[in-house]
Amino acid sequence: MALSRAIYCSSVLIAALLLVVPSSAVVPHALFIFGDSLVDAGNNDYLVTLSKANAPPYGVDFAFSGGEPTGRFTNGMTIADIMGEALGQKSLAPPYLAPNSSAAVASSGINYGSGSSGIFDDTGSFYIGRIPLRQQIDYFEKTKAQILETMGEEAATDFFKKALFVIAAGSNDILEYVSPSVPFFGREKPDPSYFQDALVSNLTFYLKRLNELGARKFVVSDVGPLGCIPYVRALEFMPAGECSASANRVTEGYNKKLKRMVERMNQETGPESKFVYTNTYDIVMEIIQNYRQYGFDSALDPCCGGSFPPFLCIGIANSSSSLCSDRSKYVFWDAFHPTEAANLIVAGKLLDGDAAAASPINVRELFQYEYK
Ligand SMILES: *[C@@H]1O[C@H](CO)[C@@H](O)[C@H](O)[C@H]1NC(C)=O
Ligand SMILES: *[C@@H]1O[C@H](CO)[C@@H](O)[C@H](O)[C@H]1NC(C)=O
Ligand SMILES: *[C@@H]1O[C@H](CO)[C@@H](O)[C@H](O)[C@H]1NC(C)=O
Repeated sequence: MALSRAIYCSSVLIAALLLVVPSSAVVPHALFIFGDSLVDAGNNDYLVTLSKANAPPYGVDFAFSGGEPTGRFTNGMTIADIMGEALGQKSLAPPYLAPNSSAAVASSGINYGSGSSGIFDDTGSFYIGRIPLRQQIDYFEKTKAQILETMGEEAATDFFKKALFVIAAGSNDILEYVSPSVPFFGREKPDPSYFQDALVSNLTFYLKRLNELGARKFVVSDVGPLGCIPYVRALEFMPAGECSASANRVTEGYNKKLKRMVERMNQETGPESKFVYTNTYDIVMEIIQNYRQYGFDSALDPCCGGSFPPFLCIGIANSSSSLCSDRSKYVFWDAFHPTEAANLIVAGKLLDGDAAAASPINVRELFQYEYK
C-alpha cells in the first residue's frame, strides 16, 4: 500500500512538473511499429500460427525479460527495440495483442508487427495465423480512437505528429516470390518488375493511409539481402560462402523502387510529413562481406537450428550442433533472422549514420525534428 501510494504521489508530481515545462522540451517516446518478424515483439504469441518464437532459445539474451522468450524472432532485441531504447524509451512498445498493451500507448507507443506477415494480404498464408499490414493499420485505427478519447483532439494530433512510425515489411512477400516451392497465390508468377511495382504500390497505399490517420514521421525500411539468409541459400543449394544472386536482384530492384517512392512521398507531403528510407540492405551486405572486421566468426551460418531444412531453432536440445556457443559471433540467429549483435550494428547506423544508411536524414534527426 505504502509503496503504491508513494509511486502514485511521485507520478502526480512528475505530471505537475511536466505541465510547467515548455511543450517543445517534452519529447514523447512513442513508436508505432508495423511489419513482420523482424520487428514482431510478441503479437504472434496470441495467434494460432506456425510462425512463433515463444520458446527457448528465442529471447535468451533479451535483458528486459531476463532471457525468457517474448515472441521476438531473435536472441535479443530487434532493430525497432534498439532504436526505441536509444531514443529514450523507458519501456519498449508492447505488442498490440497483449492484454494490457493499451496502458502503454501514451508513453511507449504500440508494436503491431507480426511474424510471417507481408504487404500483400495473402503472404504467409502457409503459416495460418498472422496480421497482414492492412490489418495492422486497422488496429492502429482502434488505438487512435482510444487516444482521441483519452487525450482529446488537439493533444492527440500533437502526439501523433511527434511519434515515430516504423514500417519494416516486404521481406516475406519477396521470400515467397523467390521460393520455387511456393505457389504464387495459385497463379502464374508475374515478372519481377511487375511484382516489385505492385508491392511498392500497395505499401504506398498503406503509408498514405497512416498519413491520413495522423502519422507525420515515417521510418520506411527496405528489405535486407534475402539471397544471403540461410533459408534461401539452402533452398537454392548455394555453395559455402555464396549468396543467391537472383534473390538479391529481386530484392535490390524492389529497394530501388521503394527509395524513389519515399522521395516522391517527401515531395508530395512535405514539409508537414517526413519519410526516411533506411538502407539495411547495404549495411548487412557490408557486414557479411567484412564480418571479421565487425567481430563475427560466421557471416552466413545461423547460430541456431542448423543450415539445412527443417531449420528447427525452437524446442531444440542443448547440443552444439543446433545452438552455437557464442551468439555474439554470428550474423544470423536462425535461418531467417539476424542476431541481436547484428541488429545492434544495423540500428546504430540507421540512428546516427549518413545518407548511405538513412536518407534524407537519419532516424535520430527524424525523431528530434520539430514541426513548426
Ligand atoms: C502487462 O502485464 C505484464 C504481466 O502482468 C507486465 O509484465 C507488463 O509490464 C504489463 N505491461 C504494461 C504495458 O502495463
Ligand atoms: C496491390 O497489389 C495487387 C497485386 O498483387 C494489385 O492488384 C493491386 O492493385 C495493388 N493495390 C494497390 C493499392 O496498389
Ligand atoms: C542449456 O544450457 C544452458 C547453459 O548453456 C543451461 O543454463 C540450460 O539449463 C540448458 N537447458 C536445458 C534444457 O538443458
